[in-house]
Amino acid sequence: MAAGRRTVGLALRLGWRAHPAAAVTLALLTVLTGLLPIGAAWCTKVVFDGLATGAPAPRVIGFAVAGAVLGGLSVVLGYLAAQVNAVAQAAVALAAGEELYRRVAGFVGIAPFEEPAFRDRLALAEQAAQQAPQVIVSFAVTAGQSVLRVAGFAAVLVTLNPSIAALLLAAAVPELFIQLALARRRAAAAEAANPSFRARTLFQSLLTDVRAARESRIFGLGDLFRDRMLGALRQAYAVELRAGRQAALVQSGLALASAAVLAAGTVVALRGVLRGELGIGDLTLFLGALASLQGGLSAVLAQLGEVGATVRLFGHYARLVGTDASLVDGGRPAPPLRLGLTFEDVWFRYRPDGPWVLRGVTLTIPARSLVGLVGVNGAGKSTLVKLACRFYDPERGRILWDGEDVRDLSAASLRRRIGAVFQDFMAYDLTAAENIGVGEPTRLHDTDAIRGAARTARIDETLAALPRGYATMLSRIFAGEDGEEGAALSGGQWQRVALARSLLRDDADLLILDEPTAALDPQAAHELTRALRQARTGRAGLLISHRLSALRDAGLIVVLDGGVVAEIGDHDTLMAAGGAYARLFSLQAADYQDERVRA
Ligand SMILES: Nc1ncnc2c1ncn2[C@@H]1O[C@H](COP(=O)(O)OP(=O)(O)OP(=O)(O)O)[C@@H](O)[C@H]1O
Ligand SMILES: [Mg+2]
Repeated sequence: MAAGRRTVGLALRLGWRAHPAAAVTLALLTVLTGLLPIGAAWCTKVVFDGLATGAPAPRVIGFAVAGAVLGGLSVVLGYLAAQVNAVAQAAVALAAGEELYRRVAGFVGIAPFEEPAFRDRLALAEQAAQQAPQVIVSFAVTAGQSVLRVAGFAAVLVTLNPSIAALLLAAAVPELFIQLALARRRAAAAEAANPSFRARTLFQSLLTDVRAARESRIFGLGDLFRDRMLGALRQAYAVELRAGRQAALVQSGLALASAAVLAAGTVVALRGVLRGELGIGDLTLFLGALASLQGGLSAVLAQLGEVGATVRLFGHYARLVGTDASLVDGGRPAPPLRLGLTFEDVWFRYRPDGPWVLRGVTLTIPARSLVGLVGVNGAGKSTLVKLACRFYDPERGRILWDGEDVRDLSAASLRRRIGAVFQDFMAYDLTAAENIGVGEPTRLHDTDAIRGAARTARIDETLAALPRGYATMLSRIFAGEDGEEGAALSGGQWQRVALARSLLRDDADLLILDEPTAALDPQAAHELTRALRQARTGRAGLLISHRLSALRDAGLIVVLDGGVVAEIGDHDTLMAAGGAYARLFSLQAADYQDERVRA
């Protein structure tokens, strides 16, 4: 309950912050539109009473006109309120999106993005953040109006027939609880349907994604994906429809009960008139009050149910923006790397109940020197890279940046000192210049720096020769600003762009390259390895490659095997030791032997 109140408070504050003027205007309009119908009903009563008692014509006509004017005014104000509400709603959606995504983008770690539960929460939070403040505010608005109206009519009713008034108000209590229970079910249904809706989106994107389109055609996956998409959708709708059916049944029962109370009230009132206790004006007022009171109460209660469901969903938003679902950021800025980056008995697994990926890794990447990392697929090389960037924290052991635990450093300042090409680098749907520029957002428009990095990565000529040079969109699904079509790059060209991106930050103390030449042709790989050696001068480097020849001149080569450091040393030492590295190196060398080459 307290959590619910906090959530409502948060939603209302969000509404207030988003557009204070709209909030105040709405509150004023609420009071006015709540009071006007009571005035109109009163005028009608005076008219009927006047007619029955033979009051002077100008008075009767005056009240009739006043009643009509009040009625018309309340309709106009209703439209005005709807417009102001729309303004407030847009402002709230923007403010909520801003807050939610600032928080999500600020997560220190990346583990939440790999959790299905987090994805579900994010989807619900997104949906609720757009709706909740608006639903809660408009509930507050209509509830405010209804309460005023209900109170007014209840006062009228109490003076005319207290027992009927009491009966009506008492009947509202069970309805309140029933509506709240329905709300809980509706929210639970939305939560239960969400994973299915997400699955639907996934298969939908597989049916339309360019890359998936190729495999989907060669393997004939279209029917499979379509069936899974429809299956997920069917499941989601089944959950929602079941909840909807229950709600419709219960609401119908409530409507019948209301009708019974209304009928009883009408009978009582008619008997009063027949006995001469009530005038004809009283009768119209009584019936009007009865219908309005009951309608008002039911509307408030039904809306309360609606708002209850929304508040529960908005709880996901509140929890997301209120807590950091991820690692805790350290406070100290990372100093320049003078000694090195050290892994000290690092144990890591991706899930608390998962298998160990790193099992007591100890190694140092000394400042200004190059370390090569070798190992079979799944040995844990890329995992080591992700830990160095503090995307995750080790479960045991420490990672030290110049002797300081990276957990004590501000993650942003640590990452400012690192340049990286990840194994699964991004190909952004942006222009060629921006695709490199995002490597250092302060240089997004620094053409010279961008072209310099592109030259080092051996991609400058290719990009300059595109239809619009560096301003060409590198996308087949988004057109450029003036609608011109984008260009497509080859796999190896994209890898060079990713390399250029990492080189743009030329003041980074540590350059991490995870398989930077995997997609390059032999000559390009050879040239790039040399170019990178120059570009790296003065900085530490961690180079991961299955092409062992690229690592030959690394000061230190580390062989990772099953999450432990199996061998460590320079090329000559490791070859002399005749272990795993020597075996792998000889294997690769043998593959390249050819009598005709040697001759
Ligand atoms: N995000 C993740 N969640 C769970 N497990 C993961 C995740 N990423 C990697 N793993 C697991 O961790 C192990 C090590 O993976 P990692 O990517 O570090 O290997 P690698 O040495 O870089 O291999 P490769 O040479 O193929 O790039 C693998 O068994 C993999 O299944
Ligand atoms: Mg890897």
